[in-house]
Amino acid sequence: MTSPPAHGVNPLRDAQDRRLPRIAGPSGLVIFGVTGDLSRKKLMPAVYDLANRGLLPPGFSLVGFARRDWEDEDFAQVVHDAVKEHARTPFREEVWQQLAEGFRFVPGEFSDDEAFDTLRTTMEELDKARGTGGNFAFYLSVPPKFFPTVVQQLKKHGLSDSTADSWRRAVIEKPFGHNLASAQELNQVVHQVFRPSDVFRIDHYLGKETVQNILALRFANTMFEPLWNRSYVDHVQITMAEDIGIGGRAGYYDGIGSARDVIQNHLLQLLALTAMEEPASFDAKALVTEKLKVLKAVKLPPDLGSHTVRGQYTHGWQGGEEVLGYLEEEGINPRSKTDTYAAVKLEIDNRRWAGVPFYLRTGKRLGRRVTEIAVVFQRAPYSPFDTTDTQELGQNALVIRVQPDEGVTIRFGSKVPGTSMEIRDVTMDFAYGESFTESSPEAYERLLLDVLLGDANLFPRHQEVEESWRILDPIEEYWDKNGRPEPYTAGTWGPRAADEMLARDGRSWRRP
Ligand code: BG6
Repeated sequence: MTSPPAHGVNPLRDAQDRRLPRIAGPSGLVIFGVTGDLSRKKLMPAVYDLANRGLLPPGFSLVGFARRDWEDEDFAQVVHDAVKEHARTPFREEVWQQLAEGFRFVPGEFSDDEAFDTLRTTMEELDKARGTGGNFAFYLSVPPKFFPTVVQQLKKHGLSDSTADSWRRAVIEKPFGHNLASAQELNQVVHQVFRPSDVFRIDHYLGKETVQNILALRFANTMFEPLWNRSYVDHVQITMAEDIGIGGRAGYYDGIGSARDVIQNHLLQLLALTAMEEPASFDAKALVTEKLKVLKAVKLPPDLGSHTVRGQYTHGWQGGEEVLGYLEEEGINPRSKTDTYAAVKLEIDNRRWAGVPFYLRTGKRLGRRVTEIAVVFQRAPYSPFDTTDTQELGQNALVIRVQPDEGVTIRFGSKVPGTSMEIRDVTMDFAYGESFTESSPEAYERLLLDVLLGDANLFPRHQEVEESWRILDPIEEYWDKNGRPEPYTAGTWGPRAADEMLARDGRSWRRP
């Protein structure tokens, strides 16, 4: 028999109570590349939303570093406009005023020693004036070719070292290299300056509520996991479809393409979370161990020509609007071979998944914006019903709706009311909006807070990044040597070859 807790001891309070808000301690954030799109649309609004939710310390400070001739006030105005336009939570003057007192701007080039000296004095001044305690995260929202310069400058100017009472962390945006070799090189450069545990690589998909829910769905319940294997699952489809084109991102996108842009990171992370074994705990180390195991077991089919497809959108109509083809977009080389659509078939060589294909696809200018993971189950081994009665019966499926209509759907057959035994597919839905009153924080809110708290659970480790390139490199090399992407009309669901790829396996893509 367990004895009752001693008087005055509250086991609930003594264990870490998950209901208490996680609030960052004294700290500041330095953003390199602060004039970029990501900073304006995601980072600045996320900082404000965190402040608005009371999750930042009162002296929190934000330092922008960029090649602009700005004063602190100009920077504050830019943040103000970004927050007004993109923040998730309402604008509150008192929150804004307190936050804006901690804004500083350091003008300079990444190679400019003087600018880094100014950065150091700015951080010291903030420690004194705002109580940041020497704790700073450096967010590298810059093209990867600048990573080495920035981290080496941080080292040279004595800004990168954590001490016994203060921390320094590096936050690195994708793309983390463009193949395995370049990713390894970058990892080496970064690790010469920062300890691996102080490096936070952003994959913003891991910050999404619905993605974190994959592990809750699988491992907090009993009814799914017994079926989650080769004995019951026919195949898995992971789709990340976007209706937008490349917008103003020609400089980044051309030559990179859809597979490097999102399969190497977001989609392979979704695959890893869907296919991994149960981790021993939910801490970063245990999660990485399991994700890495499954990524290492991913095998490419031998014939890449018939099991991968790449496409490029051509002129078409989307939502009633006429849109340009990729090759006509501003800043794109008119002979570009860059893929704006990619579909690949992967296999996982382990006891749980051997023989179960994982089909991944992504594309720009597709029919609509949707990201989902569909676990499609095998057909019943025997059906006592007439085939004419089950014509509208597909395969059972469990669909994790990552976005935009967040939730989970289960599809199964049900008798149609009436005098005959007709069976048709129906769905059972869980929708976040109906079950929870809280709205989901933006991925960047969650991830920035985690950086400030030093919580690495939702950040891929360098081994995962490298393993993902190991999977993608042969595909990219094959595509490089063989032909061009297949054209597909904007607003459709991608090239015909992608449908044929599944049809050869006797399957078809879901039309979400
Ligand atoms: C980014 C890609 O990582 O994810 C973009 O670089 C893509 O090309 C974006 O548009 C999509 O993010 P989300 O959160 O809107 O699905």
